[in-house]
Amino acid sequence: MNIGIIGLGSMGLNLAKNFITKNYKVHAFEKNENIIQNIKSENIDGLSLNLSLEKMISEMSSPRIIMLSLPANNIDECINELITYLKPNDIIADLGNSLYLKSIERYNSLKNQEISFLGIGVSGGPRGAKNGPAIMAGGCEKAWNNVKHIFEDIAAKNNNKSACCFFGSPGAGHFVKLVHNGIEYALMEGLAEISNILKLSYGMNNEEQTEIFNDILLTETSSFLLKITSEILNAKNYKNKYYLDEVESKIEQNGTGIWTINAALELGVSIPSIYESVSTRSISNNFTNDNIANKNHLIKKQVISVCELEQVIFFNFACSLYQGLNLIKESNKWEFFNFKIEDVFQAWSAGCILQGDYLNKISKIYKKNGNLNFNFLFDIISEKCSGNLLSIRNFNIKSIELAVPCPVLSSNIAYYDLIFSKHKIGETIQLQRSFFGLHPLKDKEGREINPYWTKL
Ligand code: 6PG
Repeated sequence: MNIGIIGLGSMGLNLAKNFITKNYKVHAFEKNENIIQNIKSENIDGLSLNLSLEKMISEMSSPRIIMLSLPANNIDECINELITYLKPNDIIADLGNSLYLKSIERYNSLKNQEISFLGIGVSGGPRGAKNGPAIMAGGCEKAWNNVKHIFEDIAAKNNNKSACCFFGSPGAGHFVKLVHNGIEYALMEGLAEISNILKLSYGMNNEEQTEIFNDILLTETSSFLLKITSEILNAKNYKNKYYLDEVESKIEQNGTGIWTINAALELGVSIPSIYESVSTRSISNNFTNDNIANKNHLIKKQVISVCELEQVIFFNFACSLYQGLNLIKESNKWEFFNFKIEDVFQAWSAGCILQGDYLNKISKIYKKNGNLNFNFLFDIISEKCSGNLLSIRNFNIKSIELAVPCPVLSSNIAYYDLIFSKHKIGETIQLQRSFFGLHPLKDKEGREINPYWTKL
């Protein structure tokens, strides 16, 4: 199988290097002159850089796989040019962060032209691309069977098993990747909120936070995102100033979080912490000091143990992860998807941004339970967090009391309480709807009921 990569930005180039390390020869094409010059100066053995797409294809004999590592908006234009050079049974694989619906469309239109299409989500950033990413594939099964081994070769490994899975239908790989990103947003913000609470409500400085986070990295709540958060909190620039105090506060995004929410809304699945993290990105444009009403946080140094903080982190990781997994499970309602949750755990077991011991632990519990119902969520939380979650609640209370924002942490506690606490929110809202809208009402046994206000 001849490998071609189009787009040698940070992802494409590092994937190429990964293939080369595994003894594959890579044909490549890149339009950007600066990138071309940089690559030429690197003199990479095993990389054949071509001046045009046509030349690249002509240098490669069939069967070929052409991997696209391009911004989502450039994919169709590139495919349109490619199909004029490709032969039946060649494969186009989109490795970018594309919308799953687009991948389904591309698969269908290429099928008519006898070109196989694979939509492949790749996680781990440029470092992962170079050293071993997580790979989430979907599309033409026959094509996948022909190229599976090359992706398994470059993927990250967990206990010698590749973090590389094929999820069947076209669009499935990109769907798992977008939910991965939605969870990634929630975990990132959860950790950012925790760090703020530690600073403003517990009076812990950056060094103290890094110290306690590093202790938690030795536990089974360890994760890649916790590790990098611990490091960036303490990172300083050449003027000995924390980057945390220098960097702008507006958060950028590439749209995958918004796509996750759109899918959840369409399927009627609740993913509040993912929603809150996307919402924070939207409002982050307005994070300016001009609006500060609550200037004085009451700082009285307080102590939190490693065990208590570990519970807070684990609880939030588990709730956000569960919401995302539940979305994947519910998407099986769409006739074009048929996910097995154990495959999702396998794909996320190494190399990706979500990787971590917490995930391996939750995956083991899933293997025992075999079901993604609310009992599973309860079992995961009970493994680590004591009965009524008092220390986790206390942590959230501290933030609200002192005007430290924690939308993701609050939404996770609310999600958990909506499911596992006694309340009458549903009953009250049903009665409100009935009162002003005369919408039909049923009692708990399913019998119709007509309160006095239903007679006009
Ligand atoms: C990954 C990441 C990656 C993502 C960036 C930026 O799994 O490696 O999810 O694919 O594109 O981290 O995402 P945002 O720009 O949306 O923050």
